[in-house]
Amino acid sequence: MIESGGKKIRLGVNIDHVATIRNARGTEYPSPIIAAKMAVDAGADGITAHLREDRRHIRDSDIRILKDSLSVSLNLEIAATEEMAAMVIKTKPNSVCLVPERRQELTTEGGLDVLKGFNYLKNFIRPIKKCGTKVSLFVEADELQIRAASDLGADIVEFHVGKYCELLEAEKIDLAQIEFERYVNMAKCAGDLGLEVHLGHGLTYRSAKNLSKIKEVREMNIGHFLIGEAIYYGMNKVIKKMKTAINN
Ligand code: PXP
Repeated sequence: MIESGGKKIRLGVNIDHVATIRNARGTEYPSPIIAAKMAVDAGADGITAHLREDRRHIRDSDIRILKDSLSVSLNLEIAATEEMAAMVIKTKPNSVCLVPERRQELTTEGGLDVLKGFNYLKNFIRPIKKCGTKVSLFVEADELQIRAASDLGADIVEFHVGKYCELLEAEKIDLAQIEFERYVNMAKCAGDLGLEVHLGHGLTYRSAKNLSKIKEVREMNIGHFLIGEAIYYGMNKVIKKMKTAINN
């Protein structure tokens, strides 16, 4: 957990990009399952994976194995399609996070339009909630979207904080601060409505640390940056291991 001023924030580790590397060669390694277990051993409070329609990284079998073997909660990111609803009802992850999805996008590019899809989403989440899975909606930090999420009966809103992270990375501090303040106000709004607040997308050590100051935040879901860092921190060890393998 990330600790900030006595408040504990859960860290959900997204393992999608371990599967991206595996799938690039069609091998069995690196295994997202092993990576998830290592993350849990290191202190991850939950594991997140996005089962995309095109299965570009995580596969159905990964989800089934994760659900059966993890000692922490599994958060499954999905688009609100019938195929994914069936998958959720079959595997019963601890939570689902509904995200917008377009085949051509590199990653999830924005929040879900809860207002536009209100009636469809209301019917979509009913059987999911019935099977005991919590429902999170990945939204822009926008009051109308948050209120719609609450009216829908969602348990959680996860704010898409990609814009803040990008602005910070580009050292556009004043603009980043405007985003930060928007998140502060919208987290309060969500908290007042009884929604749990999570953050995700593009988080790094610096952005996560800054955003951990927002009182209502209970969880951050982080993937791409962490897998990148794991490569850097593991490089020294694996090169030495390979040199030993080829010379001894
Ligand atoms: N949360 C949600 C809802 C996401 O869609 C993603 C990206 O799959 C993440 C968190 C993790 O984002 P990142 O890989 O940029 O840390």
